[in-house]
Amino acid sequence: MDLSDKRIVVTGGAGFVGSHLCDRLVDDNEVVAVDDLSNGERAWLPAEVDLVAGDLTDPDVAAEAITADVDVVFHFAADKNAARDDVDQYRLNNRLTETVIERMDEVGVSNIAFTSSSVVYGEAPRPTPEDYAPMEPISIYGASKLGEESLLSVYAHSHDFTVWVYRFANIVGPRLQKGAVIPDFIGKLREDPGTLEILGDGRQEKSYLHVAECIDAMCHVVENADGPFNVYNLGTRTTTSVTTIADIVADEMGLEPDYEFTGGDRGWVGDVPRMRLSVEKLAALGWEPDQSSDDAVRQATRELLDEP
Ligand SMILES: NC(=O)c1ccc[n+]([C@@H]2O[C@H](COP(=O)([O-])OP(=O)(O)OC[C@H]3O[C@@H](n4cnc5c(N)ncnc54)[C@H](O)[C@@H]3O)[C@@H](O)[C@H]2O)c1
Repeated sequence: MDLSDKRIVVTGGAGFVGSHLCDRLVDDNEVVAVDDLSNGERAWLPAEVDLVAGDLTDPDVAAEAITADVDVVFHFAADKNAARDDVDQYRLNNRLTETVIERMDEVGVSNIAFTSSSVVYGEAPRPTPEDYAPMEPISIYGASKLGEESLLSVYAHSHDFTVWVYRFANIVGPRLQKGAVIPDFIGKLREDPGTLEILGDGRQEKSYLHVAECIDAMCHVVENADGPFNVYNLGTRTTTSVTTIADIVADEMGLEPDYEFTGGDRGWVGDVPRMRLSVEKLAALGWEPDQSSDDAVRQATRELLDEP
């Protein structure tokens, strides 16, 4: 699908990744964002984007945003707190996707791009390809994403939907918020420049992709993959350890803090300590990341330090 002259709905559009996608799409398309602003900011949206401000588990909110003339829905709205460990999060994320899909089906809108996550694979061998099995997530958040993917599969195969599923590595860049490791380290070092608490043993090793590259890859997938159910990993070929992230953040802040590790091999219950996705399927579709994971972390650190 060509992403120009389209009417596009972005759920969670006022959030971190959603607002960057709105920035990218708004020049060539008519864009409507839906967001309850629980974790997003109106100010991040370009002025030309209409915002439906409301809770998308409410079918009336979905009905206001998703009208019969919509060409494609990018569905980002979710509780993305991977450390929450509470089954309500499973219900909430699945409810959001059910509400969006039911409304689309009702008015004949059949194109949806969905942001899933590497956490659907659980603790898998690396690099993990899209057809890896068995899928055994170890967090409620991971289970919620896998549940949403499977519902979308049904609509692709039995209701003539076209679905693009992105399994993201860790996405970093401007507007990334507290809870993610880089803003967490920046906040802690601003409070205490001499000491930095690091969750786990610091050897957790994951792949980081800059949000600008993530948006390029997302658009490339929608523009070039045309099966009914298109699943793509989005990440870099390399990884960065948590201790290396601490080194990069401290270096960019001109500090040499002592590190205090909370211990154990993971940051929280349900944390997958090592993650590197195979990006060969994406490469075969014609898209490769330019940056390494370390470069993405350093660029995002600089950008976040420059934010007011
Ligand atoms: N950022 C990452 O590294 C990453 C990695 C893997 C997957 N993802 C997924 O990508 C998507 C976007 O992530 P993000 O980092 O931009 O998160 P985010 O929290 O910044 O964006 C999600 C947006 O959804 C909105 N929202 C939440 N509940 C809502 C509701 N009930 N009704 C309406 N809006 C609601 C929030 O206000 C927020 O603006 C999410 O689905 C997330 O799970 C993100």
